[in-house]
Amino acid sequence: MRIDIQRLGAGLLLLFVPIVARAADAPDPAAVERGRRLVEGRQFLKAEWSDAAYRAVGKAWGEPAPDPDGDPEGYARAFARRYGLHPAPFPNDGLPMGLKRSMKADGKTRGMQVDCLVCHGGSIGGTSYVGLPNTQVDYAGFFPDLFRADGRRAPLLPFVLNTSRGTTNAGMMSVALMSIRNPDLSMRTFPMPMGSNLPELDAPPWWVLKYKRTMYYDGRTPAASVRSIMQFLLAEKTAEQFRELEPDFADIHAYIRSIEAPKYPFPIDRAAADRGRSVFEASCASCHGTYGATVDYPNEVVPLDVIGTDPARIAGLSDRAVEHYNATWFAEDHPVDPTVERGYQAPPLVGIWASAPYLHNGSVPTLRALLDSPRRPRRYLRPPSTDFEHYDRRDVGWKFVEAPEGPPDPKDPRRVFDASRYGLGVGGHTFGDKLGEAERTDLIEYLKTL
Ligand code: HEC
Ligand code: HEC
Repeated sequence: MRIDIQRLGAGLLLLFVPIVARAADAPDPAAVERGRRLVEGRQFLKAEWSDAAYRAVGKAWGEPAPDPDGDPEGYARAFARRYGLHPAPFPNDGLPMGLKRSMKADGKTRGMQVDCLVCHGGSIGGTSYVGLPNTQVDYAGFFPDLFRADGRRAPLLPFVLNTSRGTTNAGMMSVALMSIRNPDLSMRTFPMPMGSNLPELDAPPWWVLKYKRTMYYDGRTPAASVRSIMQFLLAEKTAEQFRELEPDFADIHAYIRSIEAPKYPFPIDRAAADRGRSVFEASCASCHGTYGATVDYPNEVVPLDVIGTDPARIAGLSDRAVEHYNATWFAEDHPVDPTVERGYQAPPLVGIWASAPYLHNGSVPTLRALLDSPRRPRRYLRPPSTDFEHYDRRDVGWKFVEAPEGPPDPKDPRRVFDASRYGLGVGGHTFGDKLGEAERTDLIEYLKTL
């Protein structure tokens, strides 16, 4: 009898183990709350541009702008529309999400600088979300404009910021900042030649981090690395300051891992989605995982010759840059693993309805085009906004039109996405091509439920 009870106990224990393990994985709620406050409320960097530059830049737009003093809200909206920022879903001192105020290096002039959300904060259907990739941002637009409005020349950068709205060259920013540091993070007089040539990229949604064992598109950095998400501070922080700020970034890391994807807001055809689930489990789950009460995510890095998508993100990161990173404080606990085969990590597909355009370079505007590669446009216009009028519920993603022949509209040149540019190729990931159209439609219906 006693044995039976023990067995029962052991059985119950086994039942609880997975639940306990998940709870231990879940970030501490107090850390999450601190992290949220930091992401929403704290500017870690000194101001780059003065308040005066922000108010003056509208005069350079070549079209009437609201008066920044008489109608500050209207001005902030016009500024956000022009440069592809979104309203902040938290109090942000009148600024769009992605900009925050702080003092300039002189300690006297108030100004502003970008924060994580310039790339990691977006909107869809008029609602802004922290962690939704910003697919509208035009870095190459606001960067020089704000410097000019501040009476300065923008620094000459040894790489392309972006040729298209919504992609940014975060990778080259990090490599360039890293190249002016020694392994002990002291400043170098001359930059270290890195030999990297990374392309502009679409940012990944923050809500997938919690499922990942490794992160970044190449899947070589442990997802537990807190220090790797501090690289943007390399613009100004000392080794000492990095150490002091690490606990804050541990909280930010916890917050990022707590973020849930928004749910598909329109009706879903459940019968079609059920059929689509079978298609998914047969053709997609081996790389992307299964999605039910829990997510079973295999964390697959798929070699370049199998995935076939644009290779520049993988080929463009030199071994020297990885070795240098691995020699610094950033990599002490969680080095980049150079033994992982070169390829792209198949991402979790939770919330995938909201994060078009697709692939690491944001080259594919809809799920249907992703799953039927001959349909992918080569040169098209990004939508004018992320309002639902531009959202395609049938194909899931952004409606698009082919870009007209000839040079782009000088008023908004980076509205054009041109797949012939470096890193922006639309090839590869042909796993949906073999499906029949009805199967593909069912599969897309299923993807809406994730
Ligand atoms: C200039 C745009 C930009 C800024 C600013 C930026 N990021 Fe990113 N972030 C990216 C891009 C692009 C990637 C993908 C990089 C890659 O894999 O090559 C990325 C990747 C990440 C990832 C990995 C996600 C995953 O699932 O693999 C995390 C976490 C992250 N960023 C956090 C942050 C935090 C925290 C900040 C602010 C301190 C920040 N980022 C600032 C563009 C940006
Ligand atoms: C052999 C592995 C593999 C298979 C099979 C596979 N995928 Fe993928 N998938 C990937 C990889 C790797 C990426 C990232 C590629 C990149 O960004 O260059 C990806 C990217 C995606 C993306 C874009 C994700 C984003 O955030 O932009 C979607 C959506 C997707 N896959 C859906 C599917 C569907 C649906 C199927 C089944 C028809 C499928 N995949 C089959 C490996 C696979």
